[in-house]
Amino acid sequence: MNHQPKHVAIIMDGNGRWAKKQGKKRFMGHNRGAKTVKAVVEEAAHQGIENLTLFAFSTENWNRPKEEVNLLMKLLVSSLRKEFKQLIDNNIRLCSVGNLESLPSLVKQELLFVIEKTKSNNGMTLTLALNYGGKEEILEAVKAIARKVKNSIISPEKVDESTIIEHLYTRNLPPVDLLIRTSGEERISNFLLWHLAYAELYFTKTLWPDFTKEDLQKALINYGKRERRFGKTSEQLTT
Ligand code: FPP
Repeated sequence: MNHQPKHVAIIMDGNGRWAKKQGKKRFMGHNRGAKTVKAVVEEAAHQGIENLTLFAFSTENWNRPKEEVNLLMKLLVSSLRKEFKQLIDNNIRLCSVGNLESLPSLVKQELLFVIEKTKSNNGMTLTLALNYGGKEEILEAVKAIARKVKNSIISPEKVDESTIIEHLYTRNLPPVDLLIRTSGEERISNFLLWHLAYAELYFTKTLWPDFTKEDLQKALINYGKRERRFGKTSEQLTT
């Protein structure tokens, strides 16, 4: 492999379709998807990925049937409880991005507990995007900067890219190198808009519950073969 991504982000899609194909209720797909999360987190840490960010619940996901939203929230709580030890054993630090305020208090409580308990781990950083929307993130950053400009804390001329980054939920994350989306959909779906600016995109038809550690390895090998030019020419990169 030529190079390894520092930051891998995943849109875990296809849980519902997986369940339908099996003649099961949608929720069974999410349940099975949680097992994939465990396997992929372990493999990413094993591969030496520094940052793995998973899109667990978007600001738009509130529009799903109430029963599915409730079951997803319960699954998050039970997964955090169950996999807490896996994070400790693998030296993984848990973080979250998104607006935690409107999450059910039990989810918030469990999440903050695991974040606190793993904060000194210095292996991979696993970030869960929860109640996250990329447009909302940028909007909130713009509002915070505007307030600082109004109160003469920053002058408008001094506002640059780093000012924006410092006000994002994702301020502590590096740019995404590789975005993986499962299930055959080829969309960004309001995920990490700022940090995806130069990401390599990898789409696979595999549904998330069927995604294996070998599929992650395949995506990493594919990434390793890509030439990242960041606007430069191929020749400039080799000289
Ligand atoms: C998209 O599939 C998936 C989600 C909206 C939820 C992701 C949640 C999990 C993988 C389970 C638990 C997560 C953690 C972090 C433990 P979809 O329902 O949109 O699938 P469809 O497009 O086939 O209907």
